[in-house]
Amino acid sequence: MKTSIRAVNGFRVWDSRGRPTVEVELVLESGITGRGIAPSGASCGSNEAVDLRDGGASYGGYGVARALENVAHLISPALVGLDAMCQASVDARLIELDASSTRDKVGGNALIATSMAVLHAAAETTGKPLWSHLAEGRAISMPLPEVQIFGGGAHAGRRVDVQDFLVMPVGASTFDEALCICADIYRIAGECMEARGGRMGVADEGGWWPNFSSNEEALQVLTGAIERAGYGNGEAMISLDIAASGLYKDGYYRLAMEDRQFDSDAWLDLVCSWVAKYPILSIEDPVAEDDVLGMRKFTDVLGDKIQIIGDDYLVTNVDRVSQAITDGCCNAVLIKPNQVGTITEAKATLDRARDAGWGTVISARSGESEDVTITHLAIGWNAGQLKVGSFSRSERMAKWNEALRIERGGAATKAFSGLGALPIKVRAGQEDAQASGRRSRVAR
Ligand code: PGA
Ligand code: ZN
Repeated sequence: MKTSIRAVNGFRVWDSRGRPTVEVELVLESGITGRGIAPSGASCGSNEAVDLRDGGASYGGYGVARALENVAHLISPALVGLDAMCQASVDARLIELDASSTRDKVGGNALIATSMAVLHAAAETTGKPLWSHLAEGRAISMPLPEVQIFGGGAHAGRRVDVQDFLVMPVGASTFDEALCICADIYRIAGECMEARGGRMGVADEGGWWPNFSSNEEALQVLTGAIERAGYGNGEAMISLDIAASGLYKDGYYRLAMEDRQFDSDAWLDLVCSWVAKYPILSIEDPVAEDDVLGMRKFTDVLGDKIQIIGDDYLVTNVDRVSQAITDGCCNAVLIKPNQVGTITEAKATLDRARDAGWGTVISARSGESEDVTITHLAIGWNAGQLKVGSFSRSERMAKWNEALRIERGGAATKAFSGLGALPIKVRAGQEDAQASGRRSRVAR
């Protein structure tokens, strides 16, 4: 059969941190090829698929020789002869090779690069762009972008404890306009940082390198930048990724830069005070990955006002999402395909969350490449939001620019999700706020 897999070849390429990563090139009997490059995280959940590294002295321990051996000796023999048009069966075969929840035998990096390559080969066979192959003719809306303005946490030497300070351009009416708003805020925030003095530069995802004396000061500067850029009337709101697992130890949340620590209740009070003072519309991982009680309290208090995203808390795992729905924890999911290992599992997790009325955010990792698969996943799967880091560094811009190309490509991608991207209850509250006159048109 022409669409049968003839060969699965793994190669070492390099990521945006200059570390090795896995590239898989898949060849079909027809001669058509598909390629995928594994991304990699720096602040990983302990329940996510393992990024298999060699350890030892070479490449700082980040070598991927073992993962590539697994592509050659485990994955390739298992996949040759399978029909690439049947993603679910190919992914099921991959899962059979390593059914452990963290995929530490074969490696999440080997698995996801392969699963992505299969998807690309199938789309190429249909002659359609990947997003269109995935959309299967269904109506879609372009996702709301979340753009990082300041980097922090594990991506910036912990110079500020909160990992990501982002903006959500909810007042935009097209994806293109949404990026224009983010570009303005990114530029003005850079000017604010320059005026403050100190080192200029960017963190791992391209956000400005943090130079603050407290986490709250970063919120003040970001709020000021949004206002100075002219979007202080609700058109652009703040999104935080606290990545709180990295702050949690022995029952306390610790802000190292401020030398302060908080028990679960005091921590909740602090984060709620930020939400009350600043235009925050979304918070990711406000509590540690296993702090179910904390997440439930947080969702009880804020779940109908802001989006509460589980990243390390949910690790793109359908069972963890189901459990969180039952527990009343979170109202949105972050989908990072390499956290789970295959495209099919990532889609199942997204569907489960969407069916519950949750927000859905497709996300890159802090270690990325020129691979733009996730842009196509966000659009083709009709996810509400896309988060790929900041507004600099080409591994980020490649993904934003690919979305612009898709948006201008035809009638199918003219709609924009905007506020519709938010979880159902939060959306209703925001629409009320806009109806009461908070929103004014973007002047451009
Ligand atoms: P990571 O960070 O890719 O380093 O895990 C991204 C995030 O936490 O959202
Ligand atoms: Zn995160």
